[in-house]
Amino acid sequence: LTPKDLEGLRLLVSAGPTREYLDPVRYLSNPSSGRMGYAVAEAARDRGAEVVLVSGPTALPAPWGVEVVRVESALEMREAILGRYSWAQAVVMAAAVADYRPAEVSREKEPKVAAEKVLRLVPNPDILKELGENKGPRVLVGFAMETGEGMARAKEKLLRKNLDLIVLNWVNREGVGFGSLENEVVLLLRDGRVLELPRMPKRQVADRILDLVKEFWKG
Ligand code: PMT
Repeated sequence: LTPKDLEGLRLLVSAGPTREYLDPVRYLSNPSSGRMGYAVAEAARDRGAEVVLVSGPTALPAPWGVEVVRVESALEMREAILGRYSWAQAVVMAAAVADYRPAEVSREKEPKVAAEKVLRLVPNPDILKELGENKGPRVLVGFAMETGEGMARAKEKLLRKNLDLIVLNWVNREGVGFGSLENEVVLLLRDGRVLELPRMPKRQVADRILDLVKEFWKG
C-alpha cells in the first residue's frame, strides 16, 4: 500500500510539448510524450496530494483523480500555470516548452511557394523563471534537457530560475529522455547536493523527485 505522505500538498505539474502554430495546419514542436510529467502527477496523486496537471498535446489518457488542463502553445501554458500559481504549494515543470514561436501566425493556410521561405521567430516567455521571481514559500522543481556538458548548464538554470531542485536528463542517450518509458537523471539541489540515479522507470524517477519535494515542503 502506498503511504499517503503527501496528503495536504497542492501540486501543480506541467507535462508534454507545446505547439507553436505558423498557420492553421503547421506548427513547431518537439518529441516530448508527456510521460515524465504524467508519472509525477500520478505518483503524487497516489501519495495523497491534490494535483493539477497542465498538459501540452499528448497521446496519454487523462489520469484519474487529477485535474487536467489541456493547452497547446507556450503562451497558453503560461496562462494556465500562472492562473493556478497562488493555489500551488509546489510546482514540477516537466513540460518541454518551446523557446520560440513564429513572429507571424497566418489565419489562412499558407500557400506553398517554389522559392525558399524564411521563418522569423520570437522568444517565448520563460514560465519557470517567472515562477522563480515570485517564489514565496513554494517548492519549485525544473527539468533540464542537455547534451554532453550538461551539469554546469543545469546548475546555472537552477540558480537563475531560483529553483529548489533541477532534474537533468539527456537528449542523445538511447532509451531515456524524450518518449521513453525509462529515464536516467541527475538531481541537482539548491543546497549543493548532487544525486546521480541509475536508469529506472519514469514512475520511479517521479517518486524520487517527490521524496525531495516532500523534504522541502515539510522543512
Ligand atoms: O515527455 P517525455 O517524453 O516523458 O520526456 C520528458 C522530458 C525529457 C521532456 C522531460 O524530462 C524534460 O526534460 N523536460 C524539460 C525539457 C526542457 O524544456 O528543458 P529546458 O532546459 O529547455 O528548460 C528548463 C526548464 O525551464 C524546464 O523545467 C522547462 O519546463 C522550463 N521552461 C523552459 C522554457 C520556457 N520558455 N519556459 C519554461 O518554463
